Amino acid sequence: FGTMIYDPGYYNTAVCKSQITYIDGDRGILEYRGYPIEELAEKSSFLEVGYLLIYGDLPNREQLNVWQTKIMNHTFIHENLISMMKGFRYDAHPMGMLISTMSAMSTFYPDANPSLAGVDIYKNKQLMNKQIFRILGKLPTIAACAYRHRIGRPYNDPLNTFTYTENFLYMLDRLSETNYKPHPTLTRALDKLFIIHADHELNCSTATMRQISSTLVDPYTAVAGAASALYGPLHGGATEAVLRMLEAIGTVENIPNFLSLVKQKKQRLMGFGHRVYKSYDPRAKILKKVTQEIFDLLGMNPLMKIAVELERLALSDSYFIDRQLYPNVDFYSGIIYKSMGFPTDMFPVLFSIPRAAGWLAHWVEGLSDPELRIFRPRQVYLGRRGLTYAPLESRQ
Ligand code: CMC
Repeated sequence: FGTMIYDPGYYNTAVCKSQITYIDGDRGILEYRGYPIEELAEKSSFLEVGYLLIYGDLPNREQLNVWQTKIMNHTFIHENLISMMKGFRYDAHPMGMLISTMSAMSTFYPDANPSLAGVDIYKNKQLMNKQIFRILGKLPTIAACAYRHRIGRPYNDPLNTFTYTENFLYMLDRLSETNYKPHPTLTRALDKLFIIHADHELNCSTATMRQISSTLVDPYTAVAGAASALYGPLHGGATEAVLRMLEAIGTVENIPNFLSLVKQKKQRLMGFGHRVYKSYDPRAKILKKVTQEIFDLLGMNPLMKIAVELERLALSDSYFIDRQLYPNVDFYSGIIYKSMGFPTDMFPVLFSIPRAAGWLAHWVEGLSDPELRIFRPRQVYLGRRGLTYAPLESRQ
């Protein structure tokens, strides 16, 4: 291959330098900008963590107030985007709706497109911040509209006196003009889930965000591309796939048979395994605790029994031990979402909302990197060469 290195799936290729997220996969450590994820999940809020990821430091009170106000001032979406969403089929997957609507947003904000704006927006901090406020502000609104569309109810306007996560739950659930307020335990649990999903260095969707942004396209198109990568069942779609898997297993008695199919490679144990973690995913540990908080409030979800037994049997089986396969963040998050009343196909949407903070942090860092080049990997060509064109009538 000459000087090229063949590395399918980028197992061993670093494509950028970063100061955002640190992972030690052998010891199960995850830090955002140097802060352990356990501490952030316990003490922080999602918007504070978003600020930390994007700007590099925890905000002081005034910075946090300005940040929250700016984002909450951008929660409304254009009426034409709402009309567009209303055109989706009644049973459209909410993730398809989110991706398409985010992509359509690029046509609403030409100031974010370097070719149309005629200026290099990447040299203008204010202009970049504006796109960040819009994307973080509008994403929960798009997600809530997608949900309301699926259940055939009118879309709710955002209520910006609520916190970020509270407003999201409000837009999903509000039934009438009464003083509806989401339950504080559910709001806090979802906020913790948002914190632990906010970034994970160069996972597939974030690598996609970096790859697309390396062309200098506008961030709405790049976020739509990143969300498309996240939708796949080996990435954020695993949340949905785990739940469908647990439902298909059905009872604890069926687990050994399911595991033997996994070992024969006829099935995949969704929510297990990770490219970087070769020990317990620290986010899965936090999720186990959140699960308990939700069960204390709403009662235990029967799928939990299957999940716990599945984990116990897998972790004592040599197939999984030898390959260092442990539960990842998606193993328990689906059960929490389900217990909170979310339909299964909303799960990747619930992953995308917080991950957008990570995507945008990488967008900012990537574009300010003096070493940035357009991402353009090479291939190893194994096809034929030098053939002579045969006229149609002479071909067999
Ligand atoms: N079930 C059964 N076998 C597995 C699994 C699994 N979930 N994950 C990996 N393996 C096996 C794999 O078949 C291979 O076996 P062998 O050496 O015999 O060929 C070995 O373990 C190494 O796996 P790999 O495919 O080389 O690992 P990877 O780093 O390419 O893939 C992964 C990582 C996350 C895509 C994979 O573990 C997987 O498919 N997991 C299930 C889907 C999932 O839970 N995804 C969520 C990932 S975490 C959060 C996120 O990114 O959204």
